[in-house]
This record gives sequence, C-alpha cells and structure tokens, in this order.
Amino acid sequence: MTLKDKHIVLGITGSIAAYKAASLARLLIKAGAEVQIVITPSGKEFITPVTLSALTGKPVVSEFFTANDGTWHSHVDLGQWADLMLIAPATAATLGKMANGIADNMLITTYLSMKAPVMIAPAMDLDMFAHPSTTRNIEMLRSYGNIIIEPAAGELASHLIGKGRMEEPEKILEVVEAFFAKKETLDKKKILITAGPTYEKIDPVRFIGNYSSGKMGFALAEECAGRGAEVTLVAGPVALKVNHPNIKRIDVESAEQMYNASVGVFGDMDAAILCAAVADFRPAEQYTQKVKRGEDDLTIALTPNKDIAASLGKMKKGGQMLVGFALETNDEEANALRKMEKKNLDYIVLNSLNDAGAGFQHDTNKISILNRNGERKDFPLKSKKEVASDIIEEVFFSLLRPFK
Ligand code: PMT
Repeated sequence: MTLKDKHIVLGITGSIAAYKAASLARLLIKAGAEVQIVITPSGKEFITPVTLSALTGKPVVSEFFTANDGTWHSHVDLGQWADLMLIAPATAATLGKMANGIADNMLITTYLSMKAPVMIAPAMDLDMFAHPSTTRNIEMLRSYGNIIIEPAAGELASHLIGKGRMEEPEKILEVVEAFFAKKETLDKKKILITAGPTYEKIDPVRFIGNYSSGKMGFALAEECAGRGAEVTLVAGPVALKVNHPNIKRIDVESAEQMYNASVGVFGDMDAAILCAAVADFRPAEQYTQKVKRGEDDLTIALTPNKDIAASLGKMKKGGQMLVGFALETNDEEANALRKMEKKNLDYIVLNSLNDAGAGFQHDTNKISILNRNGERKDFPLKSKKEVASDIIEEVFFSLLRPFK
C-alpha cells in the first residue's frame, strides 16, 4: 500500500482522456489513497460522475453548491485536506485558466486554494500542445512549482499522430508513488546517469553494438528523480521513454557522443552512475557507402574508444561520487575490483551473465555492490526498479559513506 492514508484530489477536465481518469482513480485507491474527484462541467460530458463516485466511494464535486439542497462545497477545505492535487487529464483551457488564475469553476478555485503539491497531466491534440500559448502556460505552471507529467506521443483521438496523449494511468501512478515514497531524500542533488548501448558505425547501414536495452539505467534515472534529484540521463539508442519530469535526457549514438555529453556535464554534478554498455572499440575508419559483399574476407580495423568512467574518475573532485557497473562472464569479483581501481570509482555494481534473469534486456537483475573498503554486499534477483532502489540506498545512504 504505497499510498496508504494519502489524500489525493483528482481533477478531471473535458478531454476524451477523461475516461482514463476512472482507471487512474482505481489505481490510486488500490495503492491505498483516499481520492476526492473534482470535475469541470465539460469533464462531465466525457465521463459520468456516477461512475467516478462508485469508484471512489465519495460524491464527485463539480459545482460550488449542490443544486437541490444548497450545500456549499468548500474548495478551501479541499486545499487543506489534500496531500496532492493531480489534474489528469488537463485540457489546454484548464492549463490557461490555472496559469492565469481564472477561477470560473470549482476545479480552478480548488487549485488556487491548494496547499499541497500539484501534478498536471496534460491531454490535447498535437497542434494545441505545440502552440506557443500552451508552452507558455506550462512554463508558467512549472514556475509556480507544479509538476508536469508530460503527455506521450502516439495516435490521438483525432487520429493524428504526435505528442499530446495523456500519459497512461499506470505511469502516472508510478510518478505519484515515487513522489510520496522518497520525497526529497536526494533533493536537488545533480546526478548524471549513462544508459543503454552505443552504436559504432561501420558504414551507413551497419554498426557494432551490444544487447543493452537501457532498462537498468532508466530505472536508476527514475529512482533518483523520484527521490528529488535533478537527473541528466545520457542515453544510447534505446526504445524507452522517460516519465519523471526531473529527468533531462540527452540522446546519443556513439561512445564518442556519450563521452562528450558526459564529460561536458560532470563538473556540475554531485554524482555519476555509469550504467551504459559502452563499446570499447570503434571501426578505425567508417565507410561512406554501404560495403558490398565479395568473395574475400573483410577485415575491419578497430581503434579504442575513450573510457568515460576513467575520464570522469580523473576529473572527480572531493564530494563527487562515481559509481560504475561491471557485467562479467568469468572471474567476476576480480574483474569488477580491477575496474573500480583503474577507473577511480567509489562503488562498482557487479552483474553476471552466469545468473539467470540478470544483465541485458531482462526486467530483473541480480547484483553485488563492491566498495573501496573491500566490502561486498550481495542482493537476490529483483526487478530492475527494486535493484535501482537498492543501489541508491547503498551508495548514497549507507553508513559507510553518507551522502553529504
Ligand atoms: O541496459 P540493460 O539491458 O538493462 O542491461 C544493463 C547492463 C547489463 C548493461 C548494466 O547492468 C551493466 O552492467 N552495464 C555495464 C556494462 C559493462 O560491462 O561495462 P564495462 O565492463 O565495459 O565497463 C565498466 C564500466 O565502465 C561501466 O560502468 C561502463 O559504463 C564504463 N565504461 C566502459 C567503457 C567506456 N568506454 N566508457 C565507460 O564509461
């Protein structure tokens, strides 16, 4: 029950995505939250208050007064009751009213009276989302400290394809859970994370790569951001999306691009966690045209890439923490210790291809964490989300080396 005893005001506005708000309310309740729905008049055109009150077990609030008995609904009381206000879906019109304080419905007055943090999940057509006025309103809401849960890209209700679709209820739940679970424990710490593989071009159609999916690195990024850190995620080519608004993603392809992006920001970081599977070599020369098949063997000369971890290890100043990974197939501990020493890492996370369910692509991993004091901590097979949490707990909060 990750949201046990949490009071959440769920604001619903007039978007087709309002139907998803029913699942969202259910998920929040299943996670232990008490949910009070406040819906705009046009929201009621898309989903009925009867459905919503049946799910939440509370009357849905929409008007300032209940028409038949004149009961006044206090937006001020709701503002004090809530631990979080979550507006999902939020239309362009509601964003504009929130940004400019146009208090013409119960949802906006509740927002303006809100004492708790506010999260907003916009939903609209792609052109409306891309319009400068929407961008400006979102920027204004961010400047008030509101958290924007970015919409996803995909097919929209209009059948157009682009960014504007409200994030899925499961993802919104994750953001809410992370927010409550570890709020502020890494508050404002700046953390660099590398994730995924690198692609080293042979010719315009071929590359040298590896099996990394980015799942482990992305789980770390979400975990750190969920605990309040400002994360810079340097990601190789992966098919993953970022959810938390505090993750700044830099997409790269090659080891050289990953090196430049990482070295460029490290000076400003409190810590770096290097989870990427970086190619150690690249073709010494790239063919400008597709290599044609012939009868003879083809030999491609390889030249070493720069070692990002070792370079950051040299740049590292007092107070900065450097965590590396080692994926091994043999002599696991000895290899990991050697890498930690050579690259001047503070910790190394060892995962082995000999463990079922560990390493590349899986949703799970099995790790050991080794530190410079020669200590080793072994963990059982867990989801990568839980593994990320274990790593953060160990490297930032263990008594051995408290995070300052
Ligand atoms: O992405 P997934 O599918 O979820 O899989 C996760 C993972 C298996 C890729 C991850 O858990 C992992 O083990 N990453 C490190 C892979 C590895 O073996 O790295 P390495 O032994 O080549 O390098 C050791 C360390 O140096 C790593 O922190 C690596 O990021 C870093 N390195 C390596 C080479 C290089 N040129 N620059 C680097 O920074």
